[in-house]
Parts: sequence; structure tokens; C-alpha cells
Amino acid sequence: MIEEEKVQISITNDADIVAARQSGREMAGRLGFSLTDATLIATAISEVARNIMTYARRGEIRCETIRSRRGEGLLVVAVDEGPGIADVEQALQDGYSTGLGMGLGLPGAKRLMDEFEIESEPGRGTVVTMRKWLAARGN
Ligand SMILES: Nc1ncnc2c1ncn2[C@@H]1O[C@H](COP(=O)(O)OP(=O)(O)OP(=O)(O)O)[C@@H](O)[C@H]1O
Ligand SMILES: [Mg+2]
Repeated sequence: MIEEEKVQISITNDADIVAARQSGREMAGRLGFSLTDATLIATAISEVARNIMTYARRGEIRCETIRSRRGEGLLVVAVDEGPGIADVEQALQDGYSTGLGMGLGLPGAKRLMDEFEIESEPGRGTVVTMRKWLAARGN
């Protein structure tokens, strides 16, 4: 059984992105993810944290351990009250960016995680929910 953990990191600058990335990586390591998987999770966290900073200016990353019939895993939620995303399907296309980015952050993060959802309302903000499950032991 894993020890339950929960952290919240407010995001306003580059150092906060590094901190969120780091604490996600460490939590993943403690949960038993491989170094590779912990790095993939950290990369997904960086992308959504950078989006918060770039598009919403401020927000929050929450990481917590989760447990379900599917096993144990890590939940990452990125929350902001920025401008929101008018067309979420479009934002998830490779190469779509309204800014100067490559447009690879969201689709990349989606590929790195097992579950990925975006809830957004223009003018209200964005919530990105991502989960990664530990491979069941014995498989
Ligand atoms: N938190 C957010 N709030 C508002 N809009 C967002 C947010 N995150 C992403 N978007 C919108 O979705 C688009 C795609 O995001 P994505 O991260 O895939 O690419 P990018 O940030 O433009 O470039 P890259 O991440 O490759 O540097 C962004 O250009 C932006 O319009
Ligand atoms: Mg991005």
C-alpha cells in the first residue's frame, strides 16, 4: 500500500514550473514509478504548468496519489482562471498554437499520460486532469 500524498504548487514563474516538475517526479518515484515514467510525468507537468504561466499568467498544479480498481497511480490537475480554451479539440491537435509555441505541449502531455481531460470555459479558466497508473505488480 502506498502512503497517501498531496501537494499544491502555485504557478506564476519559471521557478514554480521547475518546482512542480520536481515534486511530481519525486512523488512518482516514491509511488514506485520507474525513473523513465517519473520523467515522462514530470515532462507532462512542465507542459501544463508552462501553459498556465503563458496563457493564464497564474494558476496551480495539484499532484496526489490515487487508488482505484485499476490500482495505484498519480493524479495531476492543472487549474487556472485564465482566458480558457475556445476549442479544446483544436488545442489538442499537434502543431496548433495561438502563441509562438510549437503547439505540442497538450498533445504531448496527453500521449505521456494514461488519462487526459481538459475542461475549459472561455473567460472562466481551464482545468487539465491527467492520471498515470502504476503497472500492476505481477504482470
Ligand atoms: N491554460 C491554458 N489557458 C488558455 N489557453 C491554453 C491553455 N493551455 C493551452 N492553451 C491553448 O492551447 C494551445 C495549444 O497548447 P499547447 O501547449 O499544445 O501548445 P503551445 O503552448 O502553443 O506550444 P508549446 O506547448 O509546444 O510550446 C495554446 O496555443 C493556447 O491557445
Ligand atoms: Mg504549451
